[in-house]
Amino acid sequence: MRKTEEQLVASWRAEERPQPEGWDFSDLADRMTESQVPWNLTAIYRASLADATSVLDMGTGGGEFLRSFGDALPPDTTATEGWSPNLAAAREALGPLAIEVLEYTAPDEDVDSVDMPFSSNRFDLVLNRHESFSPRELARVLAERGQFITQQVGGDEAHELEAWLGHHRELPHVNLATMRRELETAGFQVVEGAEHEGAYEFRDVAALVAYLQLVPWETPDDFTVDRYADQLLALHRETAGGPVRLTRKRFWLRAVRQ
Ligand SMILES: C[S@@+](CC[C@H](N)C(=O)[O-])C[C@H]1O[C@@H](n2cnc3c(N)ncnc32)[C@H](O)[C@@H]1O
Repeated sequence: MRKTEEQLVASWRAEERPQPEGWDFSDLADRMTESQVPWNLTAIYRASLADATSVLDMGTGGGEFLRSFGDALPPDTTATEGWSPNLAAAREALGPLAIEVLEYTAPDEDVDSVDMPFSSNRFDLVLNRHESFSPRELARVLAERGQFITQQVGGDEAHELEAWLGHHRELPHVNLATMRRELETAGFQVVEGAEHEGAYEFRDVAALVAYLQLVPWETPDDFTVDRYADQLLALHRETAGGPVRLTRKRFWLRAVRQ
């Protein structure tokens, strides 16, 4: 039996929840697929950790990804996290590995406005998956010949949301070419890097709504299922109740402090 519009909206409403702490999409695994990037960030991190003596992981989230390298981390490993629910989660996850988690984030609107809570030349490897950063501060806390490895979400990721929901926060300057220039200006040499465009595929609008609960910065500030019911119903009709596709953008680079 076909669901009425009211039943559809009610089923989407049932997906609404506060953003959980940590960084884990496994609850959605059977309702979404993500294309994979052609590089292997885990292998890149591992190879670099083999030679590192003092490591920083920026924006560690709930510490899940850093913890997966537990056997490869030097005793001098530190993390930062700026979102308070994740700061507590990261401290709990990384405390048993004796990894200190300091409160810090580079504000998107002015990445240089807050100093990193470290002395100059403090690290020989800085890791950063999906976190903003200040190239100037990074150059300060990395020792000469120290490495910075980052994977970032491209600024025009999920641009389809703009047509579907109206406002969408696009960050067109977040791409490999611009980040390379910014790092080079700050005194780095970018020695490797690549960019990839792929897709997320959600089983239906309900799965998309569930995903959007985990990434609230992708939706308008006033987003709720009820407020955006007309737009979501239009998307449901456009996709005939079937899969919904969103562009997925990733890039990575390795930079060496000169
Ligand atoms: C996308 S997460 C990546 C976390 C981790 N580096 C990883 O790769 O698993 C990047 C940063 O955004 C933070 N973050 C997540 N939700 C946030 C929110 N609602 N507001 C501000 N920051 C948030 C995370 O805590 C983390 O520091």
